[in-house]
Amino acid sequence: MALIEWVESYSVGVDQLDADHKRLIDIINRIDAAQAASRSISWAIGELADYARYHFEREEKMMQDAAYSDLEKHHQRHGEFLEWLHSVQVSLRMVPDAQFHIGSDVRDYLGRWLTKHILVEDMSYKGELA
Ligand SMILES: [Fe+2]
Repeated sequence: MALIEWVESYSVGVDQLDADHKRLIDIINRIDAAQAASRSISWAIGELADYARYHFEREEKMMQDAAYSDLEKHHQRHGEFLEWLHSVQVSLRMVPDAQFHIGSDVRDYLGRWLTKHILVEDMSYKGELA
């Protein structure tokens, strides 16, 4: 069973952003599957970092265009997440076996972070972006 399943209540009301969130969920589910099978998660973590960066840029551009008032705080949350992901990448690069120690914590954090970010932080712009 997948770690996270996208459901209609996750919709932020913008098709493109919903599609991005589904893609992020898909990558996190692949990290979960790799972790459960003791396969390397490094490649998928790299893919997540790339796609998250790409998605955050798109989301923030839409916020900017809509003159969304909480953009600065939201940008900070995105930045914190990317920093955390980077620190995971550095750990995995320096100590490849680290994934056997941190893999399940990484997976749990990602699952919690994404659902909370979409359901709480992203939801606050619902109806405000074009
Ligand atoms: Fe966001």
